[in-house]
Amino acid sequence: MLLQAAPHGALQGDAVVPGDKSMSHRSLLLAALAVGESRITGLLEGADVMATAGALRALGATVERQPDGTWTVRGCGVAGLAEPADVLDLGNAGTGARLLMGLLAGHAFTTFLSGDASLRSRPMRRVTEPLVAMGASVLGRSGGRLPLAITGRNDLVPITWRSPVASAQIKSAVLLAGLHAPGRTTVVEPLPSRDHTERMLAAMGAKITGEAGADGGWTVAIEGEAELAPQAFLVPADPSSAAFPLVAALTAPGSALTLPGISVNPLRTGLLATLREMGAKLELANERSVAGEPVADLEVRASRLVGVDVPAARAPSMIDEYPILAVAAAFAQGTTRMRGLAELRVKESDRLLLVAEGLAACGVEVAVEGDDLLVTGPVRATRAARIDAHHDHRIAMSFLVMGGLGSAPVTVAGAETIETSFPGFADLMNRLGAGLEAIEP
Ligand code: S3P
Repeated sequence: MLLQAAPHGALQGDAVVPGDKSMSHRSLLLAALAVGESRITGLLEGADVMATAGALRALGATVERQPDGTWTVRGCGVAGLAEPADVLDLGNAGTGARLLMGLLAGHAFTTFLSGDASLRSRPMRRVTEPLVAMGASVLGRSGGRLPLAITGRNDLVPITWRSPVASAQIKSAVLLAGLHAPGRTTVVEPLPSRDHTERMLAAMGAKITGEAGADGGWTVAIEGEAELAPQAFLVPADPSSAAFPLVAALTAPGSALTLPGISVNPLRTGLLATLREMGAKLELANERSVAGEPVADLEVRASRLVGVDVPAARAPSMIDEYPILAVAAAFAQGTTRMRGLAELRVKESDRLLLVAEGLAACGVEVAVEGDDLLVTGPVRATRAARIDAHHDHRIAMSFLVMGGLGSAPVTVAGAETIETSFPGFADLMNRLGAGLEAIEP
């Protein structure tokens, strides 16, 4: 599908963005491990989360959408999933695939996992290695990539795993496997990554602790063989999805937007901190706690932005927001240097490469130095460009925002990938004043 974004004027109104993708996956996966019925309000009904729901059904959980739009999950208990009859296809969902592997490591049967071309190219050894150390068996393609088969056991060994990267997916997979191991399973990360798994597991009754290390690292430990209680999950709006209308409004002169009910979990707010340093007029209103997660309404007005230096240590708290930050940087005065972006190379696409190539195609001054991305603005006149999304929803949305803010249209091929995380993106942007249109090839 081809979507074209034409330059637009001010954006105005309320932008209600869908539920958080990370929390949606986790609420389904954890509810499937509880004994009894959980209810989820605000679940993201994007393709990624639906793939996780489908996988859990194939494993024996009952996952249903209710007429009022809430979802119910009747779980099977911590070791209660059943062998699926076919290969589980996780589509584009890296979180779904990796967290599921953590669950499956504790079940004594074999599951085959696959996904789309993007997911099949992504490194899985970072997750399978600790699971194998705990006693699971994994057979995959080179680099540990999908399709792979995982055979779990119900007597996993608790371990201490030192992850070389700050990754919530690695941490969560090990913690979920740790539920099935007698004693304490520990994960040490170089910097703290998002903690939704820990918050939800604690609310469900698991014994889980977190501790900051002297070196900036973060250690989480879980006691295994816990019983998980069913929950009423409330999923707030996704800050990573909010980032697209937010940056569009900051940059389009005269804009004023409110984005209600966004998660402002401190491990997800690196973009807000960075945009504020760049001069963004950005307020948090009505700050509250929703089912244990900090939530606020974001109020944003068009602002004059300046380039900044974004430290590598901030990356885990804004890892999915660099493509759209790079778009904001194209309209800021001066150079924005985004440091330490090696992990961007192994997301749904090589985002470092695609952002640099795409911005250059739009006429923006951009460079990659090692793992740093440098964008110099403000771009005076953009060039019309056609960008391939490469199965990456955030690449697609970032360049559609770019097309709206520049002086020439941007066309995105493969824009259907936006369904992964942000169903209704084009309609929402158009309601706010953008000019997105499906065009014929
Ligand atoms: C996620 C963690 C991040 C992020 C991804 C969602 C999660 O990945 O990029 O979109 O829900 O745990 P890593 O853990 O690989 O950094």
